[in-house]
Amino acid sequence: MQTRPITPAELPRLAAIFIDVFNAPPWQDGWTLDTAIERLEALAANPHARGFAIWEQDQPLGFALGARERWNDGWFFSLRELCVARNRQREGVGRRLIDAMCADLLEEGISSINLQTGIDAPAHSFFAKIGFSEMPLVTMGKLLRR
Ligand SMILES: CC(C)(COP(=O)(O)OP(=O)(O)OC[C@H]1O[C@@H](n2cnc3c(N)ncnc32)[C@H](O)[C@@H]1OP(=O)(O)O)[C@@H](O)C(=O)NCCC(=O)NCCS
Repeated sequence: MQTRPITPAELPRLAAIFIDVFNAPPWQDGWTLDTAIERLEALAANPHARGFAIWEQDQPLGFALGARERWNDGWFFSLRELCVARNRQREGVGRRLIDAMCADLLEEGISSINLQTGIDAPAHSFFAKIGFSEMPLVTMGKLLRR
């Protein structure tokens, strides 16, 4: 297995993993290939985007995508999407991907990672297992109506 930075040409293949994961329970999101590619391309278009995919030979197994953000005392990494193909989860792929990503980000001078996940999401346990801790923040939203 090898983790390397994502290239724009790889995004459609990664979008297929994204759909496989997030159109399945518990999300059942309803992504199409086009909308998934659009989301990943928009994230990747950020001038500070950083993306990493983990490969087995020529097969992508999962990816992480986000962007570095300036803070007063340095840069942190905002992780926006993470997924491992459903048929390859719980084999240590996600841990290897995040470990490689952290090494790369640290090399670049980025010293922390922020992310949002559902309080009851399966990934909550994963992130806790690999060293993430909860921050006293809440996500707020507002529906816009005409
Ligand atoms: C979350 C995800 C990226 C984890 O990747 P993975 O390859 O399945 O995880 P790993 O096999 O590397 O697991 C690493 C550790 O976390 C634990 N873990 C992983 N998924 C877990 C889960 N759903 N519940 C509890 N523990 C979990 C593993 O048991 C392992 O612990 P161990 O090393 O002590 O055995 C992957 O399962 C996934 O893509 N899930 C669906 C999408 C998702 O939730 N994305 C994040 C949205 S914010």
